[in-house]
Amino acid sequence: ETIIRKVDKHNIDMQIMQEAGEILKKGGLVAFPTETVYGLGANALDEEAAKKTYAAKGRPSDNPLIVHIATLEDLEKVAKNISKDVEALANRFWPGPLTMIFEKTDIVPYGTTGGLDTVAVRMPSDPIARELILAGGGFVSAPSANTSGRPSPTTAEHVSEDLSGKIDMIIDGGSVDIGLESTILDMTVNPPMILRPGAITAEMFEEVIDHVTIDETILGIETKKAPKAPGMKYRHYAPKAKLTIVEGNIREEVLAIRQLVYEAIRQGKRVGIIATNETIAYYTNGVIKNIGSRENEETIARNLYAILRDFDAEEVDLIYSESFALQGIGKAIMNRLEKAAGHTRISAQAVMKYQKY
Ligand code: TXA
Ligand code: MG
Repeated sequence: ETIIRKVDKHNIDMQIMQEAGEILKKGGLVAFPTETVYGLGANALDEEAAKKTYAAKGRPSDNPLIVHIATLEDLEKVAKNISKDVEALANRFWPGPLTMIFEKTDIVPYGTTGGLDTVAVRMPSDPIARELILAGGGFVSAPSANTSGRPSPTTAEHVSEDLSGKIDMIIDGGSVDIGLESTILDMTVNPPMILRPGAITAEMFEEVIDHVTIDETILGIETKKAPKAPGMKYRHYAPKAKLTIVEGNIREEVLAIRQLVYEAIRQGKRVGIIATNETIAYYTNGVIKNIGSRENEETIARNLYAILRDFDAEEVDLIYSESFALQGIGKAIMNRLEKAAGHTRISAQAVMKYQKY
């Protein structure tokens, strides 16, 4: 049975952290909050623990795990060729929502890296995550703590929905702060390449180092190339209903979604709408959910996965979503939305043109 323990991140119960650390040291699995999403922790240096992680998530074992550390001195124990750029990036963005890819050292088992000679490393800022890493021996592998194929968990309840009975412990530290997974930056290539967009953007990196590139496959443009981060090729973050992103200016999107919802309801379908503070009043039919404010896209990032889970619970057949500008965290929001939609997008103008006939 899965033990669930509530921990206040402003007043951490060290006895609980000790208990959790012991589970990790014995090869067990502990889900815990980070500032991005909840992670499913295991000892990163233990090949058997990695196997358990894949089994609990139902995740393909060629999809590598991120190794979480709590102090910068521990980086060189798992990573080789740590450049001046890495030091500059770590100084600026760690602890925080940045994962960097390096050549791995011998102590990191291939079970953790999905057979790769490279390793992904992140130093999370959430104080509960930091204490757990220290209590667990310093190196904690943690994929998002969801069943493979479901939206990433942003609360302990989400973790429990997916993994209860399959893991040893869940540390409930409340809702996460950011709500989308860390930015992944590949430091084994020059210039460094963003493999997964997140809260830390290319513009922010370029305040610290010369130049970064972006893996073109993550931008949603139709391409036959495989993404460089193995996990990005899977259609995860997927809700049960078919999700379609409607694109245009805000006014066009609202009009087109109203039309699409009207037609779907007429066909007897149950339809969800992803709306915003600014647009929600314009919708009258369907299961309407407010994802947050366009004025503050951090709120949209924070709510996205919970809303996709809500729609699963509501058992809608179809979901229509407005789209968001590819600026700041907007790029990460659209990347996750497009993956959830299996890249199904339609033009608002085309919908409205069709409506005339
Ligand atoms: O915010 C996060 O990063 C969260 C929290 C828990 O820290 N973790 C997370 O892990 O998102 P996961 O396993 O859901 O996603 C890890 C991603 C996958 O897309 C994986 O393919 C990629 O990182 N990755 C891991 N190691 C890699 C490597 N050596 N080379 C390329 N991509 C790698
Ligand atoms: Mg994941």
